[in-house]
Amino acid sequence: MSAGLAVLVSGSGSNLQSLLDAQKADALAGAKIVLVLSDNPKSYALTRAEQAGVQALVIRPKDYATRADWERAVGDALDAARVDWVLLAGFLRIFSGDFVRRFAGRILNIHPSLLPKYGGEGFYGLKVHEAVLAGNEKESGASVHFVTEGCDEGPVILQEKVAVYPEDTPEQLQQRVLKIEHKLYPKAVRELLKGSK
Ligand code: GRF
Repeated sequence: MSAGLAVLVSGSGSNLQSLLDAQKADALAGAKIVLVLSDNPKSYALTRAEQAGVQALVIRPKDYATRADWERAVGDALDAARVDWVLLAGFLRIFSGDFVRRFAGRILNIHPSLLPKYGGEGFYGLKVHEAVLAGNEKESGASVHFVTEGCDEGPVILQEKVAVYPEDTPEQLQQRVLKIEHKLYPKAVRELLKGSK
């Protein structure tokens, strides 16, 4: 049986698109994206899911009394869809230890820096790239890693580097990194599922 993937998103979903494209090109080791789940009803990723004919769900924290209730609802939706792997792709919530243990070893994330550098709470979106430029780094990149209880601290599966130029704006660096993210996430999933990672 092919592995079932869920992709969790909050924003534009360009990484989701790269995974959908890889699946279509038969480059995801036979895995199937069975669910796209967002905490944000305005996420463009939902439109991408719809266009690809993939089930899309919105589960908003504000519709639940507690964060634990919201996480339980997310976990139940993943189980109901028979998901084997949970891929965070621009998902802007940090899961509690309870959630991480429920899907232990089966949650992946993509982060736009060379972890462990520029990771952890507060390092998201343009803030990552601003910090890299402020740190006068000569290179940056992207990391796909397992999600553990510490934010952005789980074992790295794959990383790729890009050059950082002194005249870069955060937006230019973000675009350069995103371009490699779109190859890196499908590659990491493929290698992991084939057992070569
Ligand atoms: C990416 O840079 C990813 O590394 C980070 O959030 C961004 C999501 O972009 N976790 P998109 O929604 O996939 O376009």
